[in-house]
Amino acid sequence: MGKNILITGAAGYIGGSVLADFISRTSGPIKAARLSAAVRSDEQVQSLSKLGVNVIQVDLGDETAVKEVVISNKIDIVVHTATAIDGHAVSALIKALGQRRQLSGEETYYIHSSIASVFAEENGWPYGEIRDSDPIYEKEKELGDAHIIRKVNILVTELAREQGVTSMIIPVPQVYGRGTGEWRKLSVSIPASIRASIKHKVVYQFDTDGHPPSVHISDLVVFYALLTENILQKKPIPRGEKGYYFAIGHRTHWWEFMQRLAECLHARGLVRKPRAETWPSDEVAADYLGFPRLYVRAMGTSSGDLVPVNAYQLGWQPEWDEKRFIESVDDEVQAVLELDTVKSTLFDTVLSKE
Ligand SMILES: NC(=O)c1ccc[n+]([C@@H]2O[C@H](COP(=O)([O-])OP(=O)(O)OC[C@H]3O[C@@H](n4cnc5c(N)ncnc54)[C@H](OP(=O)(O)O)[C@@H]3O)[C@@H](O)[C@H]2O)c1
Repeated sequence: MGKNILITGAAGYIGGSVLADFISRTSGPIKAARLSAAVRSDEQVQSLSKLGVNVIQVDLGDETAVKEVVISNKIDIVVHTATAIDGHAVSALIKALGQRRQLSGEETYYIHSSIASVFAEENGWPYGEIRDSDPIYEKEKELGDAHIIRKVNILVTELAREQGVTSMIIPVPQVYGRGTGEWRKLSVSIPASIRASIKHKVVYQFDTDGHPPSVHISDLVVFYALLTENILQKKPIPRGEKGYYFAIGHRTHWWEFMQRLAECLHARGLVRKPRAETWPSDEVAADYLGFPRLYVRAMGTSSGDLVPVNAYQLGWQPEWDEKRFIESVDDEVQAVLELDTVKSTLFDTVLSKE
């Protein structure tokens, strides 16, 4: 019998694109699975209901509601893309999968979407180069709970172990490209830069360059599918404390990207100069981009020396490299002009405390 997969954040950029990819599969183990999509609002339910999957409206912070969803839909695998920082949601999902495992006697799985930039020096990572096959959990433990993303990563591994749930963590790098979901189709960083540049008629960059790991959304969803297929086929892949997967396609050199963006926007008559200028201050950058002041500099300048091993060992072959990305910057602009209809809520909690 096919397994039951729940994708959280299914109205979001990554979750919506993962769902679209899973639905489009015409053969293979995902095709045989029953898909459920967790969303938050009435409008999202309506929007996704035409897809022919089981759409569930649930606030993931509500432990009782999450348990009901997982048990009544007999969920075996959760692909969590809703939030990397909300420990309540993570805890509710893992505990519910623990109960489902007890009831079914079958293994249950939790795939967590985290944030790769937590392994950059600007975010307090002191160890330099890190491979996803290194003992990352031990290193995160050594650093304690200072960073919310690390705190949630540790929670995932430890709570899953305690509940008998098999866990995997995907520290997601900077993602770009058009999403293929039904609701939010744009990512975070690059659309924010494009929006701010058009609004203020100038492309700004930080005074320090950054080279963050990056991935095109189409390559990222293929990785989620590959990982899910390996789980469905019960392959002995890294899991638990060893279950980190850096889904990194290439690096992005921010200054090169900003220069190209300035040229593209200038050619469209949307900015005054075909060159990027330096942000007047981090505060202005935070205000214009809509990012929390605490993180804006790290978001714009951090690199991190992340080496993907586990992801590639599964046979993942990303199709996008940096050259292709830089050549596609004008389409990033076009995507914002066409698809910027749903505001991101990713930073709402942090911004409300500033
Ligand atoms: N995009 C990137 O470049 C990137 C890079 C690294 C890591 N990530 C991480 O990957 C995850 C997904 O990113 P994304 O770009 O797809 O974000 P997104 O477009 O904002 O999608 C997240 C979705 O999860 C939903 N959600 C959040 N909290 C929820 C809750 N408590 N209950 C139910 N639903 C909830 C949101 O609902 P609403 O629609 O109602 O807001 C939204 O639809 C995030 O954790 C993000 O930090 C993203």
